[in-house]
Amino acid sequence: MRIEFAERVKRLPPYIFAELEKIITEKKKQGIDLISLSIGDPDLPPPPFVLNELKKESSNPKNHNYSLSQGEPEFKRAVAEWYKKRFRVELDPEKEVIALIGSKEGIANITRAFVNPGDRVLVPDPAYPVYANGGTLLSEGIQVPMPLLEENGFKPDFQAITEREAKMAKMMFLNYPNNPTSAVMNKDPLRHVVEFARENNIIVCYDNAYSEVAFDGYKAPSILEVEGAKDVAIEFHSCSKTFNMTGDRIGFAIGNSHIVTGLVKIKSQIDSGPPVYVQKVAVKALETYTDDGEPPEYVKDVNRGYTERRNVLVDGLNSLGFKCQKPLATFYVWLKCGGDSMKFASSLLEAGVVVTPGIGFGRHGEGYVRFSITQPKERIKEAIERIAKAL
Ligand SMILES: Cc1ncc(COP(=O)(O)O)c(C=O)c1O
Repeated sequence: MRIEFAERVKRLPPYIFAELEKIITEKKKQGIDLISLSIGDPDLPPPPFVLNELKKESSNPKNHNYSLSQGEPEFKRAVAEWYKKRFRVELDPEKEVIALIGSKEGIANITRAFVNPGDRVLVPDPAYPVYANGGTLLSEGIQVPMPLLEENGFKPDFQAITEREAKMAKMMFLNYPNNPTSAVMNKDPLRHVVEFARENNIIVCYDNAYSEVAFDGYKAPSILEVEGAKDVAIEFHSCSKTFNMTGDRIGFAIGNSHIVTGLVKIKSQIDSGPPVYVQKVAVKALETYTDDGEPPEYVKDVNRGYTERRNVLVDGLNSLGFKCQKPLATFYVWLKCGGDSMKFASSLLEAGVVVTPGIGFGRHGEGYVRFSITQPKERIKEAIERIAKAL
């Protein structure tokens, strides 16, 4: 029998990191110590109360039935409460909130609800690859890249989008604080996004997964803070980065009730929501924010740690002659290496430091590499010493 992948699967881009991964595996086999600054998965544990609650809730037999496609009522209420405290955004938990098995799943599934084969989707470049692949491509949509250029502060230039492209676009993805560039977007430019989307009838999928990983007093906004955003936007969020719960798979989306309903329709045919006990734990985690929207000590502590790591990395890179800014949010540092990012990453790998080549995030990621500060400060210092020798 000849077994063929579906055309849409065949169209998925080749996995460009295969060659690098082969070298990594080989080096590990040889017992060579590699400092991995490549993955977007925190090295820090979830808060102890989350671990305790997980133990408690998962050992309750009542918490092992199917959840509802839209999520448990108490979870949706907790998300609405959190948005009110943190962003001053009012939400109807019944109609404007949905639980997700991590935000990635929601980002991929939202296209299935609204994108027809051949529909145009505006996708930032460079970007988290799920917008283009798991989302647009697997829904047979056509990706229209929005270059994120350094001269524009890694924000899309809406004036560069032609009237035709804008009119043809059904959906747009946007992500700030941004992976991989670590750029942030304040409320004023978000107003332009909403205006542009309303004028052109475009659904905005705003990925706010990193809003709580912020430094130097920076507070990331929600797009829903902008007047009129609820006409066009859905925002994706998650406990993954805020509470270091990446493997627990708990996220949520909020916003326009019709867009939320579309996502519920898709998900009810595919899954039955995140486990009930994980939703119950997430409720406790979200409740740790104060009424003024201040994060708990745990989140502040984690961010103080990231600030130190960021400083060690950026100061270290700059001492080697690079010109690198200190990001205000995310656990990424986006370094302009110039030229071939795969070659640059390979040379660092030879020195025992693993980073992600920018080309992996899109054509406009070429010339950059992404460092993740998901290693202790001492290891980052050591990485800088290794890079210094390699250069
Ligand atoms: C920009 C961005 N959005 C969403 C996600 C998905 O996170 P999760 O599915 O764990 O909520 C990630 C994960 O790395 C990410 O970098």
